[in-house]
Order: sequence, then structure tokens, then C-alpha cells
Amino acid sequence: MSGFLSSAIGKKFLMSISGFFLMLFLIVHLIINLLLLADTTGATFNIAAHFMRTNPLVKIIEPLLAIGFLVHICYSFIISITNWRARPIKYEVNNPRENSTWISRNMIYLGILILLFLIMHVINFFWKLRFGEIPEIMVNGELMENTYSLVSGLFINYWWYDVLYILGAIFLGLHLTHGFWSAFQTIGLDNTRWKPRLKGIGIVYTIIITGGFSIIPIYFLIKSYL
Ligand code: HEM
Repeated sequence: MSGFLSSAIGKKFLMSISGFFLMLFLIVHLIINLLLLADTTGATFNIAAHFMRTNPLVKIIEPLLAIGFLVHICYSFIISITNWRARPIKYEVNNPRENSTWISRNMIYLGILILLFLIMHVINFFWKLRFGEIPEIMVNGELMENTYSLVSGLFINYWWYDVLYILGAIFLGLHLTHGFWSAFQTIGLDNTRWKPRLKGIGIVYTIIITGGFSIIPIYFLIKSYL
């Protein structure tokens, strides 16, 4: 087993499995975040955020999510460094521009930009909610952290965070246009029947993720001018 995981295909396999897990997380995270737009008191979002923070099942999944991110990030660097070492000379015959897309050749750089976004994002919200002083609010007779005021406060008071979050969603979308399809290809679903379908589903998934994560800062940016 350890022999397989250290082989080139084993490393790609780990990248794809962790990628699937992260893509699933993104959908759940987006659905909850869209509740920010559900009502202006923030009650719906606060209840959902509180549920996610206190539910025992979610508490078990949280460390798995951290492992998923770590595996995906570490193996992306290992695979990229191995490829750079194996190909120090740029071959003229094997023209990369004709055989691959710009995005597929630059996945590692898009990944680094997403990692920088993620560090900023964790400091903005996750860190403050776990280790900072967050104002509390009474919702339906239960006292909970006012996550809505933390998120809306950031987006309404600092326009440059809106821009950074929109850029983060765009980088994520570009990464996913290749990543979604590539994850299925690695597990062998790249036959002629499935290839066009998966490419189509990948485009729809990417539009939902980029559009959904962008619409939240756009909404608060507009609100800050009203
Ligand atoms: C408008 C965009 C977004 C908003 C409003 C948002 C909001 C939040 C909030 C409030 C938390 C803290 C949850 C808690 O600790 O209770 C959080 C955590 C987190 N977010 Fe986001 N997020 C956004 C986009 C993203 C994107 C694009 C990614 C991935 C690239 C992401 C990945 C994470 C991760 C990994 C955590 C820590 C784990 C967790 O608490 O679920 N977020 N986000």
C-alpha cells in the first residue's frame, strides 16, 4: 500500500481523492454561506453557523477536512517538484501550448494563490470565532456567537476585502475548471462517453462555486453604498 501511495499514480490518486472531498466541502460551505442573504437580521445564518460549530458529527469531519487540505497541498508540491526535476530542459518538439491548456500547466500557481486566500480567510473568520472575542446574540431563546455581524461587518466596512474575496472565488473557479475533470480522469472515468458529460458538469459546478462565493461580497458591497 505504501509502495502504491509513493508511486506517481498513487500520488495523483491521493490528489484526486482529497480534491473530491474538498469539492464536496465547497458545496456545503457555499449553501451555508448563501444563508447570509436569507434575512437582514442574520438569524438564519447565525443558526446554521452555530449548528455547524456545535454538531458532534461536524466536529468529527473538521479534522478530516484539515487533513484533506494538507494532503492536497503537500502532494501538489511533491508532484510539481518531481516534474520540474524530471524535465529541466524545455523540449521544443513536445510543444506544451498545443498539448495542454494554460490552466492545466499553471495549477500549482493557482493553488498557491488559493492557499494565500485561505490563510487570510481563516484569520478573518475561523480564528476569531474559535480564539477571539465575538459578540453574542440571542436567537430563538439560545445564546450564540453573532457570526453574521462578523462577516457582514468585514464586507461592509472594508471594500478591499470584497475585492479579495471575489478574486479568491475567480482563482478557485480557474483551478476547478481543470481540477474537476482531472480528478475524474485520475480515477479512470475519462472514456469517450463520460468525458463530454463530466466536462459539462465541471463547467456548471465551477460557475455555481465562483458565482455563489462572489455574490456574497458583491451583495454586501452594494449594501455598503445604500
Ligand atoms: C463569500 C465567501 C466566504 C464566506 C462568507 C465564508 C465564511 C466562512 C466562515 C464564517 C467561516 C468560519 C466558520 C466557523 O468557524 O464557524 C469559514 C471557515 C472556513 N472557510 Fe469560508 N467563507 C467563504 C469562502 C470560502 C472559500 C472560497 C473557501 C475555500 C477555498 C473557504 C474555506 C473555508 C475553510 C477551510 C474554513 C474553516 C473550516 C470551517 O470552519 O468550516 N471559504 N468560512
